[in-house]
Amino acid sequence: MRIYCEKDYATVSRRAAAVIAAQVVSKPDCVLGLATGSTPIGAYKQLVEWHKQGDLSFARVRSVNLDEYVGLAPTHDQSYRYFMQDNLFNHVDIAPENTNVPDGLAAGTLAECARYEEVVRGLGYADLQLLGMGRNGHIGFNEPCAEFPVATHLVDLTQSTIEANARFFASADDVPRQALTMGVGTIMHARNILVVVNGADKAEAVQKAFAGPVTPEVPASILQLHPNVTIVGDEAALGGLR
Ligand code: F6R
Repeated sequence: MRIYCEKDYATVSRRAAAVIAAQVVSKPDCVLGLATGSTPIGAYKQLVEWHKQGDLSFARVRSVNLDEYVGLAPTHDQSYRYFMQDNLFNHVDIAPENTNVPDGLAAGTLAECARYEEVVRGLGYADLQLLGMGRNGHIGFNEPCAEFPVATHLVDLTQSTIEANARFFASADDVPRQALTMGVGTIMHARNILVVVNGADKAEAVQKAFAGPVTPEVPASILQLHPNVTIVGDEAALGGLR
């Protein structure tokens, strides 16, 4: 496990972007596993800047996103497809047909989970999977539970995740109650994993995930068993690992 402890969000973002850019430069047709949430926004901004300067091309990159809310259209400004278009895809040269996000409006959610898992498997899984982490240790929308979910599946969001995400909606009542997410098994198939964490409110989850027992009660703790994990965070988030 490689740990980069940076001084603030700006340097966390630049370091995370550098790890992603290194993957794209070393394998231009790589499969990038991407995440949404507030943490990676700075890294995406940096990638867009490097692209605009002519230093980075996504022309041959394929992408697979971790998750999507059930019931939100791609045009809904809180859908994860919209987030990806807005923060990255619309500003770089990635081919639209090479970007994959679960379909939150699919009529059959179980069929959509199977289809999406097959898309990720068919691409050979991610070369690099970017992950944020929830305060309860969730990765993707894999919430604390009794057993690690293996493949892409439908989840009921926990109250803590609904409350954490309410800041993006008019009220907590507007936060969708379900989501489609890659499973922990899907994520663990990635050849490299980049976890980005920022702020003191992640410190306890980071400490439990990387310095505690491996348990589905802290989904990110499974990453201790992955051979190629890089963690990039600020001192506030990583302090508990010292
Ligand atoms: C997003 C995702 C989530 C977030 C996590 C942290 O696609 O899968 O697991 O990474 O909720 O969110 P932020 O970065 O907003 O703290």
